[in-house]
Amino acid sequence: MTATLTRPLTATEAIETRRSIRKFVQEPVDQGDLREILRLASLAPSAWNAQTWRFAVVQDPQLREQLREAAYGQAQVTNAPAVIVVYSDMEDTLQTVEETAHPGMGEAGRSGQRQTFDGVFGQQDVAQRGQWGLSQANIAFGFLMVAARGLGYDTVPMLGFDPAKVRAILGLPEHVQFAGMLPIGKRAEEGFPHHRHPVERITKFY
Ligand SMILES: Cc1cc2nc3c(=O)[nH]c(=O)nc-3n(C[C@H](O)[C@H](O)[C@H](O)COP(=O)(O)O)c2cc1C
Repeated sequence: MTATLTRPLTATEAIETRRSIRKFVQEPVDQGDLREILRLASLAPSAWNAQTWRFAVVQDPQLREQLREAAYGQAQVTNAPAVIVVYSDMEDTLQTVEETAHPGMGEAGRSGQRQTFDGVFGQQDVAQRGQWGLSQANIAFGFLMVAARGLGYDTVPMLGFDPAKVRAILGLPEHVQFAGMLPIGKRAEEGFPHHRHPVERITKFY
């Protein structure tokens, strides 16, 4: 548990106090906290429990420098002590899909999971099923931000980067799709207060 918190924030507190932070305290992220944040994010739900998300944690300064260049020079990438790149790997998901069947369902669950995925995605091309994989990874990306805030950390979600460059820097295959990159650390600025549509503007009640 992070030194500055005596308890994790509640979900409500984490959501209320999360805001995009682009200037960070210059200290490494506690490695135990980092693991716990990733574990919490991995508890995100996904259709058929597919868990298409994958995380690349970049703390190496030279690699972060390269990521910043791929992110059109956005300074938060090197200002943060760590960057978590969240991507989906639908091809890995399909190849290893038995792993995602609940163990309580035994061999029948494993073969059922294989049949489901082969049936739904076998005829789709890599790009089409990659899009589906990304829609699942986006859920984990959201969980990751809230989990980080809950343990006293701050983040800024980012999609402003060249995906081809980031794939090359991280040695990732062509088919992976990015949910985003997430610089993470402790805030050294307050960020902007939330500016959001009122609920009435975005909701129809039936
Ligand atoms: C998918 C996504 C991509 C974003 N990309 C960037 C980015 O490349 N650079 C940046 O500075 N902020 C980026 N943002 C941050 C948004 O500008 C910010 O979340 C939004 O203005 C709301 O502010 P808040 O996060 O402080 O509540 C991104 C946010 C999301 C969700």
